[in-house]
Amino acid sequence: MSYQRLLSLAFLLLIPTDLYALDFSKSTCGSNGNYTGNTAYGANLNNTLSSLSTDIGNDGFYNASTGQGPDRVSAVALCRGDVQLDTCRECVQKGVAGIRDSCPVQKQAVYWDDFCTLRYSNATVYGTLATSPVYYLMNTQNVTSPEQFRADLRTLLDNLRRRAAGGSSARKVAGGNATGPDFQMIFGLVQCTPDLSSGDCTSCLVGAISEIPQCCDGKKGGRVLRPSCNLRFESAPFFNESRLQELEFVPPPPPVIVEPPPPSGKKSGSTTQTIVIIVVVIVVCLILLLVSAIIFLRKIKKHKPTEIPQTVDEISTAESLQYAFSTVKAATNDFSDHNKLGQGGFGTVYKGKLPNGLEIAVKRLSRDSGQGDMEFKNEVLLLAKLQHRNLVRLLGFALEGMEKLLVYEFVQNASLDNFIFDSVRHLDLDWDRRYKIIGGIARGSLYLHEDSRLKIIHRDLKASNILLDREMSPKIADFGMARLFRQDETQGNTSRIVGTYGYMPPEYLIHGQFSIKSDVYSFGVLVLEIISGRKNNGFRSRGDSVGDLLSFAWESWQEGRGGEVVDPFLRSGSGSTNEMLRCIHIGLLCVQDDAADRPTMASVVLMLSSFSITLNLPSKPAFYAATGYGSDASLIHNADSTNSHHETTSSRNDASITDLHPR
Ligand SMILES: *[C@@H]1O[C@H](CO)[C@@H](O)[C@H](O)[C@H]1NC(C)=O
Ligand SMILES: *[C@@H]1O[C@H](CO)[C@@H](O)[C@H](O)[C@H]1NC(C)=O
Ligand SMILES: *[C@@H]1O[C@H](CO)[C@@H](O)[C@H](O)[C@H]1NC(C)=O
Ligand SMILES: *[C@@H]1O[C@H](CO)[C@@H](O)[C@H](O)[C@H]1NC(C)=O
Ligand SMILES: *[C@@H]1O[C@H](CO)[C@@H](O)[C@H](O)[C@H]1NC(C)=O
Ligand SMILES: *[C@@H]1O[C@H](CO)[C@@H](O)[C@H](O)[C@H]1NC(C)=O
Ligand SMILES: *[C@@H]1O[C@H](CO)[C@@H](O)[C@H](O)[C@H]1NC(C)=O
Repeated sequence: MSYQRLLSLAFLLLIPTDLYALDFSKSTCGSNGNYTGNTAYGANLNNTLSSLSTDIGNDGFYNASTGQGPDRVSAVALCRGDVQLDTCRECVQKGVAGIRDSCPVQKQAVYWDDFCTLRYSNATVYGTLATSPVYYLMNTQNVTSPEQFRADLRTLLDNLRRRAAGGSSARKVAGGNATGPDFQMIFGLVQCTPDLSSGDCTSCLVGAISEIPQCCDGKKGGRVLRPSCNLRFESAPFFNESRLQELEFVPPPPPVIVEPPPPSGKKSGSTTQTIVIIVVVIVVCLILLLVSAIIFLRKIKKHKPTEIPQTVDEISTAESLQYAFSTVKAATNDFSDHNKLGQGGFGTVYKGKLPNGLEIAVKRLSRDSGQGDMEFKNEVLLLAKLQHRNLVRLLGFALEGMEKLLVYEFVQNASLDNFIFDSVRHLDLDWDRRYKIIGGIARGSLYLHEDSRLKIIHRDLKASNILLDREMSPKIADFGMARLFRQDETQGNTSRIVGTYGYMPPEYLIHGQFSIKSDVYSFGVLVLEIISGRKNNGFRSRGDSVGDLLSFAWESWQEGRGGEVVDPFLRSGSGSTNEMLRCIHIGLLCVQDDAADRPTMASVVLMLSSFSITLNLPSKPAFYAATGYGSDASLIHNADSTNSHHETTSSRNDASITDLHPR
């Protein structure tokens, strides 16, 4: 046994928290060919590997490559995010020895152990997502209440993977703990090689999480080890939490309003160019229109100043929107429970009445938005300028210390989910009303996407975010929250995430990508929910099989039985069956798997208002079970099921997620 090995063994034995595989290490050799003895490849490999352990620095990540063309060797080493540099170097050294022992002639290989991961290949390794081979380890102890444990573990790991994927290009790691059922503690750590993009890190970890059922279902601990990422959970602490926190670098998150490039460039360049040209022309026209409208309004204003509704120009400073904290506090009766209207993802909402008699809804933001007061004011100012019949109006804000309040117009009726999913109140919404609601939501979203200056992606369109006024007109609430919260709004609020799984498009779940097409997807789900009166989340069709509303709607519609999707109450009413079927059709177009295939909100509005427009045939929507372990993960999981042995040793040649997802 080598000196290094003894050293690291001694080190490992000092940490009694690893309940199994105290000295775990595993090498897996590639199957893409061998090299022979004293070739250039061999020499390059020697050089590359020896530089790993000496040159790895405090980041705990190092990439190296030597040689050219077919003799090029590239390698990366990654240490667990909490280990000290000396431990890290020892681990990498041990890994180099281990990998040479186990894979003396192979052109590529992976090595895992408690504190580090290494891999080398003749193909480029740096920045390349590799999800196989995969290696599992499990603790043999069973948990109690496995159902609940699974859910809690899932929540913890989803949270951690979001944090890890949001990390910098130097570190993508997150650790934390949660209390499971029967006071069982769960400690979890997830890590990606930091050279991955945030989207690749997400897809790698989502895939790893989805493999827990094969790896270690119902066990107190387990690990899923992939070349590009790994996860581990235990019932006892196994990593140095304080060191992780110390090193955690919180980078400013990317602005959410900017649209990411459309996923998968299926469309040809010329189509893109045409679209760009059309958009430019439309924008120019809109600007011209706006300018002439403003000039026109100004002219009118000179003559009849009192009749002009509040225009954009009138809200020019944040101060004009600022309410005294004490006023708002008094208006809500000191935020009394009696005045509570509901609890949203970002805080609690209270009803209030200002001294002048105006009824308001006040959102008390649940935590610090991560913004300074000035920045917050500016954002509110921008959002307050958004005015549309189908948006809940933001009237202003109030600040005091850490407290931030948003003041909205009060909307008379409850949110849409209180109607469509309620066994009694759904009778209040006949087809005419529902059709108007669908149209209103579409116009409100269109305004957010295209008509307002800000181009806002709502990111959380769902039935509970649609409020109904006295006339049952819909008003979209909670828009622009992503602007107010600088961090990823989903962080630290898992209940909200779980609650809206059914509305999230696949590209967000897999790659973390948001675009206006994500909202279109959510809108499609919403349309199908409004028509069917059933929730996408936890939807059960025909008694036994748990499916989602989307697959049910798709299948029924495909087979010419679209009427089965429609709420029985509507079927018995006088509403137009054609309109209902057309709405199902539009809904299905919106939930298509490929974001590029989904219509824009502008087309949706057009399709809803003009029956002479012929609709495309929708392709199959992205199905995923919306329960428990399934949810976001199952997409990748299904595609990867050939790889589901307890231990997979074959090294498929750096298969990337896109390979796993033939369209
Ligand atoms: C590479 O070498 C290993 C071990 O010597 C052997 O089992 C394997 O068949 C070889 N692979 C190829 C493609 O030659
Ligand atoms: C690479 O290193 C191994 C042992 O460290 C040695 O046996 C081998 O000859 C070296 N190969 C080359 C091409 O230098
Ligand atoms: C790591 O990879 C990056 C990108 O390929 C490259 O710029 C950098 O030089 C590499 N570092 C080393 C030490 O080879
Ligand atoms: C790596 O080696 C294998 C086997 O010799 C070869 O098929 C493959 O093309 C090589 N890849 C690269 C990127 O050179
Ligand atoms: C854990 O549960 C499995 C099946 O549920 C059972 O076969 C096994 O014996 C249990 N192990 C322990 C350590 O209780
Ligand atoms: C669990 O996590 C919290 C928050 O990160 C931390 O303060 C606490 O010390 C952890 N608990 C244990 C037992 O490590
Ligand atoms: C954990 O990390 C902190 C900060 O780096 C360090 O002071 C402490 O000694 C570490 N604890 C253990 C058990 O290694």
